[in-house]
Amino acid sequence: MNALELVGVTAGYGPYRALDEVSLSVPDGGIVALVGPNGAGKSTVARVCAGLVVPTEGRLLVGGDDLTGAAPWRIARAGLASVIEGRGVFARLSVAENLELSFGRWLGPSAAATALERTFDGFPMLAERRTQPAGTLSGGQQRLLSLAKVLGDSPRVVVADELSLGLSPAAVEDIYLQLRVLHAAGTALLVIEQQTDRVLGLADRAVVLDRGVVAFTGPPDGASPVVRRMLGATATPDSLAEPVSPA
Ligand SMILES: Nc1ncnc2c1ncn2[C@@H]1O[C@H](COP(=O)(O)OP(=O)(O)O)[C@@H](O)[C@H]1O
Ligand SMILES: [Mg+2]
Repeated sequence: MNALELVGVTAGYGPYRALDEVSLSVPDGGIVALVGPNGAGKSTVARVCAGLVVPTEGRLLVGGDDLTGAAPWRIARAGLASVIEGRGVFARLSVAENLELSFGRWLGPSAAATALERTFDGFPMLAERRTQPAGTLSGGQQRLLSLAKVLGDSPRVVVADELSLGLSPAAVEDIYLQLRVLHAAGTALLVIEQQTDRVLGLADRAVVLDRGVVAFTGPPDGASPVVRRMLGATATPDSLAEPVSPA
């Protein structure tokens, strides 16, 4: 059974088509890497999965149930948790309060308390900082907290959008360790990254997105050359940062 499936999804922003008939699936217990250059539509896939962007065509399935057009909370309740840019942590609330707020949304008080203790067991770094305002955590610690927040209900599948973006190598190690722990506990993962090396080592399948279209689906080994060719052919943000002056 597929934990998550997009079938021919077309979606965008107003008249702009960011995704054109995108199909991909994440089997139960599997890890799929979604990679591709900046602007390819990766975050739009994450938003479709979370119910924040509704497809104009195609379907979103979670555990085989059609949730196309469903509200974000219904998708979450169906077992899909998403860690998405801009949906992170409440800066003024403590680490524990952030987790309680999140767990309390779908668990009763006693189950939420159990989930909190389980989280602190799994994330000692967060346990040490449980009373600290989330806004004072480092970028990597905040990313770990935003990941921990969605795990209270033992989701069937987690969609993680650029968890490692801008983090130190040590913080990226922490994040990937937690993803492995999650996977070992039976959770399926759709891991979205622009930096491909790390995620292709973790995944058992890769999907490459380019300008809103699936350019490759297959083993991670096969994705690397496709991405390299693309990055060679496309202007990267770095190359745009220093425009060549006209002669
Ligand atoms: N809120 C938005 N409004 C309009 N266009 C958007 C919005 N978000 C993203 N886009 C456009 O959709 C395309 C895909 O963006 P995105 O999914 O963020 O790509 P990626 O995550 O792969 O970098 C880009 O061309 C981007 O400019
Ligand atoms: Mg993105």
